[in-house]
Amino acid sequence: MRDPISFLRQEYDDLVRQELDWKLRILGGPSTPWCLVDGKRVLMFCSNNYLGLSNHPKLKEAAKYAIDTHGAGSGSVRPIAGTMDLHMELEQRLARFKGAEASLVFQTGFAANAGLIPQLAGKGDVIVSDELNHGSIIDGVRLSLAERRVYKHADPEDLTRVLDEVDKASPQFRRILIITDGVFSMDGDVAPLDKIASLGAEHGAMVYVDDAHGEGVLGEGGRGIVSHFRLPRDKVQVEMGTFSKAFGVVGGHVSGSRDLVNFAYNKSRTWTLSGSHPPAVVAACIAAVDVLEHEPQHVKKLWDNTSYFKKAMTDLGFDIGKSTTPITPVMVGESGKAKRLSARLYETGVLALPIVYPMVAQGKARIRTIMNAALTKEDLDFAIGAFETAGKELGIIQGQA
Ligand SMILES: Cc1ncc(COP(=O)(O)O)c(C=O)c1O
Repeated sequence: MRDPISFLRQEYDDLVRQELDWKLRILGGPSTPWCLVDGKRVLMFCSNNYLGLSNHPKLKEAAKYAIDTHGAGSGSVRPIAGTMDLHMELEQRLARFKGAEASLVFQTGFAANAGLIPQLAGKGDVIVSDELNHGSIIDGVRLSLAERRVYKHADPEDLTRVLDEVDKASPQFRRILIITDGVFSMDGDVAPLDKIASLGAEHGAMVYVDDAHGEGVLGEGGRGIVSHFRLPRDKVQVEMGTFSKAFGVVGGHVSGSRDLVNFAYNKSRTWTLSGSHPPAVVAACIAAVDVLEHEPQHVKKLWDNTSYFKKAMTDLGFDIGKSTTPITPVMVGESGKAKRLSARLYETGVLALPIVYPMVAQGKARIRTIMNAALTKEDLDFAIGAFETAGKELGIIQGQA
């Protein structure tokens, strides 16, 4: 007799045995530099809330006010009866901020990738993707009927090789879609988008960048990777992002031409078939754009903190990989050691989580730290001291613990 449910427990137990299950840490309050995690007061060193906006008074006020004026929910999916004036205002504000013709807001970044990618390339097309692209891109590509080609991570030469092969195979292929993360979240390196955009133009391909970790961080006033490389807007046809990281709220978005947005909102199934953001979320996102436009100090502080931390960690002898962004991996190597380092840091009052196989290759385990603009110099010194003590204890850096 078939047992329909025993796999649930078996597979979970397997994950626990291999120590691959997620152990949830519970925040007992807002995500602030010092916060309560599992009842202990610790320094937050791994949140995506880069600019501390999730707790910014303007965002909180905007969210509260929108509940009074527009209610708790939107009532529907966007195309039926779930588009409020606030949704339209957010899209206009975002397009202006990005210097794009138009923007479209999705419920999450994942929903944007999963809903739009399969529509941009289908049967008879080819998608060319960086080997380290985010899981939401991978799933978006899987939902597409297009063929998939993968190029070596952030390697324009290998991308050229793949595009040449694709060209040789044409006119078999109708359209080519190149997709890359902007900032790669495991290593903190930046995609060579200038070169990718030139190759896209050379081969008649559409270029799609997922700038989830670049916006609010890179470019003029945090406008993102397209601004960082000063690329003409028509060279990168789809600039995708999320409100869940530096913007401090939640929600995905794409920016580009009016044609792109008209196409996207009519075709993306995650957009047409799933409820729209509640007013409080939309209002907080508008306030976040406003803060980025009017309070440049947050992005500046983020970078000042990043330079200070990277220098101190390098001086102590830590290997911090090849990051050029506020994501700083502290390379450890062996998974068990990375977990022990994270546990020691938590004991001393710093929350920084280990990234281990299979999230990264065997032997490349690390602690992934993410800088935050709201941290003070004293906070940074505290964290650096905790890393120094634990790093010496575990023999990751030289010296007496
Ligand atoms: C590169 C990248 N793309 C997309 C997403 C998904 O964004 P969201 O949290 O808005 O669903 C993430 C979040 O982890 C990400 O890192």
